[in-house]
Amino acid sequence: MKLPATLSLIFVPAVVQAVLTTSFDPVYDNVNGSLATVACSNGANGLLTKGFTTFGSLPSFPFIGGAPAVTGFNSAGCGTCWKLAFTNSSNITTSINILAIDVATPNFNIALAAMNNLTNNQAEQLGRVPITATQVAASVCGLTMSIVFLHPPLIPNIAFTVTICVYGCRSDASNFKMSIT
Ligand SMILES: *[C@@H]1O[C@H](CO)[C@@H](O)[C@H](O)[C@H]1NC(C)=O
Ligand SMILES: *[C@@H]1O[C@H](CO)[C@@H](O)[C@H](O)[C@H]1NC(C)=O
Ligand SMILES: *[C@@H]1O[C@H](CO)[C@@H](O)[C@H](O)[C@H]1NC(C)=O
Ligand SMILES: *[C@@H]1O[C@H](CO)[C@@H](O)[C@H](O)[C@H]1NC(C)=O
Repeated sequence: MKLPATLSLIFVPAVVQAVLTTSFDPVYDNVNGSLATVACSNGANGLLTKGFTTFGSLPSFPFIGGAPAVTGFNSAGCGTCWKLAFTNSSNITTSINILAIDVATPNFNIALAAMNNLTNNQAEQLGRVPITATQVAASVCGLTMSIVFLHPPLIPNIAFTVTICVYGCRSDASNFKMSIT
């Protein structure tokens, strides 16, 4: 049995909390928007690679957007999940969980629907709001961990394929392919 030289470990979020801001970009509200258009497209950390296709195919849509953790194409921050908390002028705090799919520096830039949810439908009036960002488990954004075995070894000694989807799996997960002979 041959294992690949490197096998990604299950991602465990570090406790990261930061006082930042968020703005919105309606480009992330397009249910048919292609994941090929964002930094987290293909590449090992990409969301296309994890089996998703459009923004609407992401389990957390429209709670998606650009995050400072994503620094460029194929960033390790792709697919991370962030709790954004906003305290309004009545001192009421609300929060949402955003899946990081794109670059945004130095602050968050999320779907309009997500920011409207966060601000009680005041995203357009406010434009940009202060937030506290805390990284949470990817599963909070609907990216679940599973291991899928395809093509069971019906005939001994014949190569078969095992597909392991570490997180962000669809039912027909297509991530972390490796061959075992
Ligand atoms: C998304 O694509 C589907 C299928 O092509 C189409 O029916 C739908 O109107 C599109 N929605 C938007 C918001 O573009
Ligand atoms: C603060 O948020 C609460 C809950 O969403 C809302 O009822 C209230 O009107 C908001 N206050 C202001 C000033 O926006
Ligand atoms: C806002 O709310 C927090 C906790 O909910 C409280 O500790 C704080 O004193 C409040 N601040 C103001 C200005 O009302
Ligand atoms: C935010 O989304 C939650 C969950 O979908 C919903 O219960 C809540 O009413 C939404 N709030 C606003 C202001 O849209």
